[in-house]
Amino acid sequence: MSRRGGRWTSHNKNFMPAELACFEQRCRARYPITEVLYNCPKCGGLLEAVYEKPAQSPDELKKLWRERRTSNAPLDQSGVWRYREFIPFLDDYSAVTTLREGCTPLLPAPRAAEYGGMDAIVFKHQGFNPTGSFKDNGMTCGAAQAVRLGMKRVACVSTGNTSASMAAYASAAGLQPIIFIPHGNIAFGKLAQALEYGAKTIQVEANFDQILALVRKLAEELGIYLLNSINPFRIEGQKTIMAEMLDQLDWRVPDWVVLPGGNLGNTSAFGKGLRELKEWGLIDRLPRLAVIQAEGSAPFYELMHRSDRSYLNAVGHPETLATAIKIGDPVSWPKALFEVETSGGVVEKVTEQEIADAKAIIGLSGIGCEPASAATLAGIRKLTNAGVIDKSGFIVAVLTGNVLKDPSYIHEYHTGVLKSPRGAQIRSSFENPPIVLRAESDVIAQFLGR
Ligand code: F0G
Repeated sequence: MSRRGGRWTSHNKNFMPAELACFEQRCRARYPITEVLYNCPKCGGLLEAVYEKPAQSPDELKKLWRERRTSNAPLDQSGVWRYREFIPFLDDYSAVTTLREGCTPLLPAPRAAEYGGMDAIVFKHQGFNPTGSFKDNGMTCGAAQAVRLGMKRVACVSTGNTSASMAAYASAAGLQPIIFIPHGNIAFGKLAQALEYGAKTIQVEANFDQILALVRKLAEELGIYLLNSINPFRIEGQKTIMAEMLDQLDWRVPDWVVLPGGNLGNTSAFGKGLRELKEWGLIDRLPRLAVIQAEGSAPFYELMHRSDRSYLNAVGHPETLATAIKIGDPVSWPKALFEVETSGGVVEKVTEQEIADAKAIIGLSGIGCEPASAATLAGIRKLTNAGVIDKSGFIVAVLTGNVLKDPSYIHEYHTGVLKSPRGAQIRSSFENPPIVLRAESDVIAQFLGR
């Protein structure tokens, strides 16, 4: 919804007024949805999109969303825009570029369940997205808002996946993507994607948090639209991961949704999405959120395990081989804290060894994922052992990135040379190295066992 000449205008009769609102409960200032803002000008709080309740009943929405799965219309084929009544911030869909994001499967994984100490686990695999991560769900929305606002250049700071996704969506939408990444700290698959999708790629000698602080100032100065997860429209797109999950489950609510936590945008998005679905009457209870961090980059874990949760102690030098979640000063922590508390959720941390072994098990399940995603299974194993998660519970774990994002990690693990950031050897508990043999049939036959 845009506001022109002081009157709400809309091209869509089903459109509901949308606004930006300050997330801080003591402020809640509201702004037009078309203002270029990332923080509340009054109090500096995070912003979120807010809407009126939809005109349709919960059953009408569920039916409409299900029926769209048989449609060939591009918006309906998108696992984000199929749920457009749930994210009604646009008044005109001509600004949308879709690469058919979302539409990611729910995959039961008995072997992973056994490892995690559960009767059953279902993975919602966001690595099946067009650029291989959940960022595409958010980016189609962020790019649409950029086009709607008449922006020409978009930027992000990224541990890799955001940049790969932004590069693709910006280029597809005719925008110029500018990417800032921590030098030497991103998985090769992700850097390769950014280059291939045509992003101006700047490697900076600093960590994610330091670069983000820098770029936030620069974006304002240069009139570049920022597409980090501080951008509220990214969060709207990522909300649809929960809508799609529930749609695929015929609206049966899991006991737990487990996800890795880095900058905490996804935690914020899942929490907001689930709350809104409950407020709108599509579900009658909330799943509990379990957020898993890597031990060397776990400021949110530390915050959650403190009695005074009014501030976050940033980790100055975050460390983890799961580079996607190597973030010490997550910007969305106030939102994530609210969502975890509201859902009765928990935050856990896991070691490099635990991530590596859980990842190998997800691979052995025929599913595969990147290191950060495997923190979920490592966390589940820890939480079932501790009796926090009941083994017979209904659990969905979100695998955030594709197995091919970080091939060097895989090769090093399976050949026994993977080392933690501090140089400690990581045990290859499920090692599977390639074997070199001479080109002689006898040798090969003997190796395979006649
Ligand atoms: N998993 C993967 C594969 C990621 O790429 C990220 C974040 C996360 C989990 C954590 O999600 O930040 O919403 O808590 N990657 C960002 C990036 C930071 O720049 O690509 P979060």
